[in-house]
Amino acid sequence: MTKRALVLGGGGFIGSHLVRRLKHEGMWVRSVDLKRPPYSPSPADDFVVGDLRDPACVRHALEGGFDEVYQLAADMGGAGFVFTGEHDAAIMHNSAQINLNVLECMRNERVGRIFYSSSACMYPEYNQLDPDNPRCSEESAYPAAPDSEYGWEKLFSERLYFAYARNYGFTVRIARYHNIFGPEGSWNDGREKAPAALCRKIAMAPDGGEIEMWGDGKQTRSFLYIDECVEGSLRLMRSDFTGPVNIGSDEMVSINQFAAMIMEIAGKQLRIRHVDGPTGVRGRNSDNALIAEKLGWAPDRPLVEGLAETYRWIAAQVREAASRP
Ligand code: NAD
Ligand code: GDD
Repeated sequence: MTKRALVLGGGGFIGSHLVRRLKHEGMWVRSVDLKRPPYSPSPADDFVVGDLRDPACVRHALEGGFDEVYQLAADMGGAGFVFTGEHDAAIMHNSAQINLNVLECMRNERVGRIFYSSSACMYPEYNQLDPDNPRCSEESAYPAAPDSEYGWEKLFSERLYFAYARNYGFTVRIARYHNIFGPEGSWNDGREKAPAALCRKIAMAPDGGEIEMWGDGKQTRSFLYIDECVEGSLRLMRSDFTGPVNIGSDEMVSINQFAAMIMEIAGKQLRIRHVDGPTGVRGRNSDNALIAEKLGWAPDRPLVEGLAETYRWIAAQVREAASRP
């Protein structure tokens, strides 16, 4: 019989790529989101435009039973959205409400297993002060001290999923994503993360010109290409390992190095003007020891490859936007 998957947040960046992959595998897929994917039509068999903060919407979404449920819906964005403090209440309320609804409604439905996308933002700030030696191994999560309300909500929801697993016998899988990037992600709506933001700025600047960068550029991160994110998520979902486990790249770069890589791809030489802005933790890198041990797999695609594909896509968006009257 055809297996059924439900992707909550299937109109978003990771969700829309995941739906494509699940369809490619031959599954029947229902997707639910506030909006349809903005850049290409969803191949989902059933796309429900709805608000998962409403329990009636969640009950409707779960109708028919599912082998796999992926819960990716959240109020999220890059540093310019989650670290300014302006959206803290909405982020916490909206995402927690979705997770509370999903779990409670699932008690009455046939669901094989549920995947929850947590974030590296739940790791304590005190382990991410040194840009050269951030510590993000899974067991380092406690004593908890995330630097954003977004991270606190993720930590709360991780615990919520585990509580439902313990008390009601749910089969859950939890990933902690580390900055996922690629084509068809937010690039100009205020929710874009550094990869898309810097690709956009570099694509828009004339050769020899200047771009703005938040902070001194010495802060470090790792960035995972979308295809490996989807691959890791499916491997975790279908494994015997519950998690939580990092799904991220361990190729750490400073934001200055990162911008230099994009300029090289673009074939442009630009000056960088460092400006004040939301910078988040000083250093972050995925620790991939646990995923390698438990899944026998870890992301290994060089950053530059995914970055070249992403730059091409964003440069095309920039050209298209500029050609519109
Ligand atoms: P995204 O914003 O592109 O996708 C999230 C989707 O959820 C959006 O399409 C949004 O419309 C939908 N949504 C929000 N509120 C909703 C509601 N009330 N009802 C229905 N749909 C709603 O983000 P993404 O990058 O695809 O992230 C997917 C998940 O992965 C999120 O949970 C995010 O927190 C997590 N995550 C992402 C990253 C990353 O770097 N992209 C890193 C860590 C964790
Ligand atoms: N977004 C953005 N835009 N970031 C910039 C820019 C810019 O123009 N210039 C410099 N940066 C810096 C940020 O200040 C930050 O220090 C670093 O680049 C990375 O920024 P983001 O990619 O926006 O976010 P993040 O890595 O701090 O956090 C993201 O990843 C987490 C998971 O690892 C966010 O999307 C979180 O929501 C997510 O959970």
